[in-house]
Amino acid sequence: MTTTKSSFREWLVHCYPVIEDALEHSIQNTSLSCAPRVLREACSYALLSGGKRIRPALTLLACEACGGESKQALDAAVACEMIHAYSLVHDDLPCMDDDNLRRGKKTVHVAFGEAEAVLVGDALQATAFEILASQKDPDKAKKMLYHLARASGPSGMVGGQILDMEAEEKELSVEQVSAIHRAKTGALLEASLCLGAIAGNGNPEHWKEFGWCLGALFQATDDVLDATQSTEDLGKTAGKDAEAKKATLVSSCGLDGAHALVEQWAARAEAALESLSLTLHKDILLDLPRFLRDRCR
Ligand code: IPE
Ligand code: IPE
Ligand code: MG
Ligand code: MG
Ligand code: MG
Repeated sequence: MTTTKSSFREWLVHCYPVIEDALEHSIQNTSLSCAPRVLREACSYALLSGGKRIRPALTLLACEACGGESKQALDAAVACEMIHAYSLVHDDLPCMDDDNLRRGKKTVHVAFGEAEAVLVGDALQATAFEILASQKDPDKAKKMLYHLARASGPSGMVGGQILDMEAEEKELSVEQVSAIHRAKTGALLEASLCLGAIAGNGNPEHWKEFGWCLGALFQATDDVLDATQSTEDLGKTAGKDAEAKKATLVSSCGLDGAHALVEQWAARAEAALESLSLTLHKDILLDLPRFLRDRCR
């Protein structure tokens, strides 16, 4: 799937059909195929409901950038998107952010029920690890399992979600908000790159700084979009952070402050790229911070 494209938008367009196809197949080729009907349907709804697919696109990109072929990273890409989809289903639950709109559709608990949504998250998480463990190369599988477990677990996404909840109605410093962002969002973005690097025989450790800067930038932009865009454009309820008194970058340093930090992280991401030895796709990787900053949903 090697490409001569130079922007991340072009890269996304290029790999989107491959990712969609792999996600659809993952329902048929894993334990999800023999799950009870309601669970299978609800998992399909959560997974195949039109996300931007940024994480799996990063996995395929890092793999090729390290000299691998992106098909070697497809399982890893699907596993990362499954963890992401699970995190969204749980994030939207009434006991968490209590959202009824996601990707322009009813959230999973609204469409299928609350207990079902909890179990959808559980099922997607388990299936992500099943996919990684089923890969042919046991060394790569083990490394990927470790990185994804760390990123999604207590010191990664799940830990960050707890900190995010605890921070409601509190005034946090920019550093405190950034630490939450690093865990709840940055860890999985970082892991998406690291798993791609492993698939392409690269060193995942070398991708961490770049991944962290992108994660910080990504969640900062998410906070800005929540405060500035319409529900229709976002496909999720706008203005929820202020309504729920969330501690966000916008609440801690205002819109101008958040924009300034995004620029700082973009510059740091660019600097981190310089220390990576890349076989391919430097242009696309250099364009990534700009793409993540300028997105409108
Ligand atoms: C939303 O992620 C959740 C956050 C981590 C901020 P995305 O903006 O990537 O959501 P989808 O997958 O495109 O719907
Ligand atoms: C969610 O952050 C991060 C996750 C781990 C899912 P948000 O709560 O800001 O994400 P949205 O705005 O609901 O997509
Ligand atoms: Mg949340
Ligand atoms: Mg939320
Ligand atoms: Mg948000």
